[in-house]
Amino acid sequence: MSRIGNLNRRSFLRGAGGAALLGAVGARTAFGEEVGRLDALAPGSTSVLSPFGRQEFDFDEIYDRRGSSCIKWDRAIERFGPGVEVGMGIADHDFRAAPCVTKALAERFAHENWGYLHRSSEFNEDVVEWNQRRYGLDIDPDGLVWTNGVHTAVIAALQTFAPPGSRVLMNTPTYNGFYTDLRFTRTIPEDSPMILVDGRYSIDWDDFELRAQRSNAFILCNPQNPTGNCWSEEDLLRMGEICLRHRVPVLADEIHCDFVNRGETYTPFASLPDRDIVNNSLTFKSSSKSFNLASMKVAWYFSTNRDYRERVQANSRSTVPTLGVFANRAALREGEAWLDELLDYIDGNHDFAEAYVRERLPLIEYTKAEGTFLAWLDVGGLIDRTRAVQTAAQESTTSVATVTATQVVQRWLAENAGVFLNPGSDYGTGGERHMRMNLATSRRLIERALDNMEGALATV
Ligand SMILES: Cc1ncc(COP(=O)(O)O)c(C=O)c1O
Repeated sequence: MSRIGNLNRRSFLRGAGGAALLGAVGARTAFGEEVGRLDALAPGSTSVLSPFGRQEFDFDEIYDRRGSSCIKWDRAIERFGPGVEVGMGIADHDFRAAPCVTKALAERFAHENWGYLHRSSEFNEDVVEWNQRRYGLDIDPDGLVWTNGVHTAVIAALQTFAPPGSRVLMNTPTYNGFYTDLRFTRTIPEDSPMILVDGRYSIDWDDFELRAQRSNAFILCNPQNPTGNCWSEEDLLRMGEICLRHRVPVLADEIHCDFVNRGETYTPFASLPDRDIVNNSLTFKSSSKSFNLASMKVAWYFSTNRDYRERVQANSRSTVPTLGVFANRAALREGEAWLDELLDYIDGNHDFAEAYVRERLPLIEYTKAEGTFLAWLDVGGLIDRTRAVQTAAQESTTSVATVTATQVVQRWLAENAGVFLNPGSDYGTGGERHMRMNLATSRRLIERALDNMEGALATV
């Protein structure tokens, strides 16, 4: 089994110190020496694995985030120990930020005053122009509401439409964070399990309609985290029509919309050619996935239905941070070339992972996702071979919470392959035999993770 290994974590963490917390600019100098050593451990793989020719931005670089208080790496290591070599959990990136973002933040830092922010209407124009330019989507700038995260806004929408004790419809498997929002609002998940055929998910329409009838809101995820589904106009219209008929508002979370693989299409719910269906919805967006700005806490939502929008607004008093606004503006105004190259790179990562899994990991299956930077791996073979269901049942007898088979697989992979993945059971009904792997990282690290998994699987 190949291993990155050899990293002197204690001196690395000491070196990272406070400078690491300042982010990418400070991190490179503070981490430089150790990161250099890490790079040197995977020589020569860059050119082999970069099918897109010369790139302006180096996404192959292994940008070491360890010791910077990031969930993706530091929490995985905290949980499973220093043997975790590749953290592939929470949905953010390992890449160095877009240069325009770093520049804008440095310039704003030079102005040493951090009083209240005045957000002029120009900020709305940046979002409007981005959506118009990339997706042909018209958003009324006056109807755009800023919020400090998609969660904050989704929670406000749930509080508006779904009183405690009522049900919220979702196509599952779906983003685990929605379940947290439901717990927060004391609403009940109404999982409508999708149908899985040959690695592709589709909607069970009878089930969807049955459950819509008893739900107060529908959370749509497009592209869908974790499956990567990019919903077609036809599917969206059909979901929208059912929800309209049963008076169920559609909460369209389109945070992953920029990540669409070659040959696939993202259709904004708000662009559907039916005014009544669109009026029955709110859309939630952000550039936090596209430009890796999650900790900057900026997002926005909009609706053609003024009544919906104002009612949700009344349930949330959310302000956005100055640095977040400056970072987002720079990204939307100047970051398009960086993002387009990143999208090509992620598309290549999906191809790479799909081919590797097919050729070298017989106990796992992966069908390339249509969108997102997430790979939804079918680990049914691994579950069976390692008897994870039996282990989970046994452990559940002495555990406060039920232990699932994919949690057992998560631990097994962390301990035997040094790879941290998210267990499918976190994503609702239908996730019981899958693991989620985050591909927003250097292809060299993906290769390392898959090499490690191949080595570990050979022992079972
Ligand atoms: C589908 C989806 N919605 C929302 C979020 C979180 O959004 P925010 O950080 O803006 O609250 C995530 C993060 O992974 C996500 O995948």
